[in-house]
Amino acid sequence: MNLFRTKSIEQLQTAAATSGMVKSLGALDLVLLGIGCVIGTGIFVLTGVAAAKYAGPAVTVSFVLSGLACALAGLAYAEFSSIVPASGSAYTYTYASLGEFIAFIVGWNLILEYTVTASAVASGWSGYVTGLMLSAGIDLPHALTHVPADGGVINLPAIFITLLLSFFLIHGTQESARLNRILVFIKLAAVFLFLLLAAPHVDPANWEPFMPFGVSGIFGGAAIVFFAYIGFDAVATSAEECKDPARDLPIGIIGSLFVCTALYVVVAGVLTGVVPYTELNNPEPVAFALRYIGYRLGSALVGVGAIAGITTVLLVLLYGQARIFFAMSRDGMVPANVCKIHKRYHTPYIVTVAGAVFVSIIAGLAPIGVIAEMANIGTLSAFTVASLGVLVLRVTKPDIHRTFRCPAVWLIAPLAILACGYLMAHLPYETWIRFVVWCAIGCLVYFGYSYQHSTLGRAQRREDYAKHEE
Ligand code: ALA
Repeated sequence: MNLFRTKSIEQLQTAAATSGMVKSLGALDLVLLGIGCVIGTGIFVLTGVAAAKYAGPAVTVSFVLSGLACALAGLAYAEFSSIVPASGSAYTYTYASLGEFIAFIVGWNLILEYTVTASAVASGWSGYVTGLMLSAGIDLPHALTHVPADGGVINLPAIFITLLLSFFLIHGTQESARLNRILVFIKLAAVFLFLLLAAPHVDPANWEPFMPFGVSGIFGGAAIVFFAYIGFDAVATSAEECKDPARDLPIGIIGSLFVCTALYVVVAGVLTGVVPYTELNNPEPVAFALRYIGYRLGSALVGVGAIAGITTVLLVLLYGQARIFFAMSRDGMVPANVCKIHKRYHTPYIVTVAGAVFVSIIAGLAPIGVIAEMANIGTLSAFTVASLGVLVLRVTKPDIHRTFRCPAVWLIAPLAILACGYLMAHLPYETWIRFVVWCAIGCLVYFGYSYQHSTLGRAQRREDYAKHEE
């Protein structure tokens, strides 16, 4: 058995060049794509929870720590993405560096990350919309807006938004990018409106005590608010649709991460400055803070902006999920015929539909708490492996052209591995158990199907056979 067979960089570049996808995205599209995916449920919902339950006003520091871990891993991602301009993000990078088996497990965990996060975000969208409808006097039936664990039957709004966005994605990346651009601006407008209205009301007394749960609270908070950063790596999954991936991808990844971290820290600071942190554990802390200081209309506007924000997150997650699936099916890791490109729209429509169905089932039926925890661990594991992979490739392929070189790579990449590992260690025990079970299922799929069907493995067997015949 050869579990560590690697794809050659040349193979990946050829596959990327012949994929049939339209190369329509530029650097600005990528930064907006990143912001589209990153700023959402995390900033609009999680900031309050993390402040109230984990870090207190020091949640700002939690955001910085998490952002730092992402920036470190992001630099590794950026170097990889500039060498290997192919769909699949960490999965593809690992295939070229650490070999097929680890690549499969990384891809498997990325599917987990995207599916689970998308499901959680779709549920969050449903909750927000249901709440807004209620304040407008429309009471949607509980049974049709809640999962069984919350006393309902099915979460229909979550399924509705998932299917609607998948429909947009199938009809073309360019169109989806346009929709994304509009929604990103609405979302940013909501964030700035909040800052504009709330900042003058900051009372520094609310920042005392700054670290009510101590240093460990800050780290616990960082492991939780990491969710708010999930998705910036989705930018790296779009390489095959970029006009100039080697230049634009690093700009897209680092640029979007920088903008998001800055906004998170400022919003978290203002939020904990206007409302005592103990009162922030509610499903809409940002809108709540505005009501708290008397801005009812402002609160409703920010609520609408938040819905737009959460919509863009879901759009980019569904996009990224389909691209990971696409990359894996093209390699024969999952049945190859699912990676067909639509003749008219030039998008991988079968995997998009399959992904949407999975997300709909989970979001429609499973409780959000159970699924959301899994997102962080899947992402952090992929980041850790990608950071390791960049080092391996520096040793095994020192001479390949790197348009973007990670600065001080022997410092940055090990620090990324440590930082991501440290955050993983702060996640709950149950999450670890579920993660191990998910990986075990992945191993079964790999050894039961993918090892035999991988295109790389088949090519190698053909070569071996030919040699044997001679
Ligand atoms: N980072 C994304 C969010 O906060 C998942 O909604």
